[in-house]
Amino acid sequence: MDPQRHELAAHAAIPLGIGRPARHIFLCCDATEAKCCDRAASLAAWEHLKRRLKERGLSGTSAPVAIHRSKAACLRICTAGPIAVVYPEGVWYHSCTPEVLDLIVDQHLVGGRIVEEYAFARMPSTPATRSSEASPEAVPVPPEP
Ligand code: FES
Repeated sequence: MDPQRHELAAHAAIPLGIGRPARHIFLCCDATEAKCCDRAASLAAWEHLKRRLKERGLSGTSAPVAIHRSKAACLRICTAGPIAVVYPEGVWYHSCTPEVLDLIVDQHLVGGRIVEEYAFARMPSTPATRSSEASPEAVPVPPEP
């Protein structure tokens, strides 16, 4: 292991809120061979997600809850998309249009409540997925350093 590279990566993670309690949304987008939805629709959904997180104050270092987002070319469902998955609960969503992403941001990423009408799969063993409604406090705000 190269300790300098380790330190560089650890330092870069701090302003991103990595290591704090967080949720992470992956959205299938811009696949080389778009299968689950129109490529332009997936790009529009991704741009909307970024804009919505910024509007809600969830994409900066001052965000009260660390929300990470990643564009995934394909999440292998390849139908009824755009497809998204939110961790740590491992909840999978179909039909992630801008309107549905607004629900996911407000209800799940912030509130900790799964958007049941669009969730089609989930990990069975997390506290949030044992009941249909996760605790709104599921992502606690960390104390100031
Ligand atoms: S192209 Fe969206 S999941 Fe495969």
